[in-house]
Amino acid sequence: MPDLRSPDSLFRSMADVDATRVDSLLDDGATLPGIFYTDEGIAALEDELVWRPSWQIVGVEPEVRNAGDYLTSHISGTGFTVPIVVTRDRDMQLRAFVNVCRHRAHFVAVGCGHKRFLQCSYHGWTYELNGCLKSVPRSEEGGLPPLDQLGLYPLAVDTWKGYIFVTLREAEPLSAAVSALQTVLDEQGFGYPFAPENADPAFTYERVVTPQSGPSNWKAMNENNIECYHCPTTHRHSFSDMYKVDPSHYLHREFDRGVYHLSDFQDRVAAGLGLPAERARDYQFYYLWPNMYLENGLDIGYGANVQRLWPDGVHGWKGEIVSYALPATPRYDPDLVKQISEWWRLTMEEDAEAAGRVQTGLRSGLYSWGYTLPESERNMRHFYRLVWNALAPAFRR
Ligand code: FES
Ligand SMILES: [Fe+2]
Repeated sequence: MPDLRSPDSLFRSMADVDATRVDSLLDDGATLPGIFYTDEGIAALEDELVWRPSWQIVGVEPEVRNAGDYLTSHISGTGFTVPIVVTRDRDMQLRAFVNVCRHRAHFVAVGCGHKRFLQCSYHGWTYELNGCLKSVPRSEEGGLPPLDQLGLYPLAVDTWKGYIFVTLREAEPLSAAVSALQTVLDEQGFGYPFAPENADPAFTYERVVTPQSGPSNWKAMNENNIECYHCPTTHRHSFSDMYKVDPSHYLHREFDRGVYHLSDFQDRVAAGLGLPAERARDYQFYYLWPNMYLENGLDIGYGANVQRLWPDGVHGWKGEIVSYALPATPRYDPDLVKQISEWWRLTMEEDAEAAGRVQTGLRSGLYSWGYTLPESERNMRHFYRLVWNALAPAFRR
């Protein structure tokens, strides 16, 4: 163990990162070195080794169940954002494309909905739902390459239990990315509300998007999301008022590339909602590497959430919570549901603020790394390994 009595300046830049040293720090229960949260070079590595090759949830199947249905999303790293459009084409094939017009780079679709063709609203170039360029206003002027060379760029798309995933670079099948998550969800009796066998064909699964942002590296925010060691102190009058956060009730465990948390409402909240004593865990939070969260919010009347976050520069993050009402969403006392929404709003505000202060600390140049508790922060240790496993090959050459 190094002498820890003064700030250790071992890693001042990416060039200083020594793979063997990082291995032994993580073995000792240390955090990732501070430089991992502040260095442009590390962020550029993440773009190539984390963001481009990862499968990302962009929507759910019931949103695009009919031919002509489409939705838009994006996959972002620190140095890029790729807009994405997903369509159900005339042959009922699910397709994904880079949502960038081959003319002069406008989006070809915005939002979500239903269309017979994707017509770019800038100059009217029109694409089939399978991405082929169909028509170009005034094309009789000539001067263009053959239109069949100007289709939308396709992307790999796949589905799992009704969640639609897209990747910019298919490094592995989707099934490999989600198999351990599925084992965990099966064990917990997660209902997979969007899976074809469960989705209600007569119900409109409308999305409500809540944008988020904060002043910290995406990893600092994600770390906050995946541990609850901070809950009793940071969320004294929000999350901790709502859920049991003591270690005897709050379960947090990891699986190959994610973690999950389970807890229960405080008794007075459960009583207020009239919940039966025998019920599934009220709070179910599942994190999947690198940046996705599934939340089962059925018990409090807001349906199911799919949440993602992504980098906004090295020192910031953005995110969105996409909430879907479900056909069986119960109706509870509106005052209590309002209180719960307020607790959540406050919780997320406190989290973003805490992570922002952490970022200031990380940027001080006087923080080398820290140390974590083996049980209360086991999820953190797991996450550090996930980050390091992804990035280490670049440092072992
Ligand atoms: S940019 Fe799409 S039609 Fe011009
Ligand atoms: Fe929190």
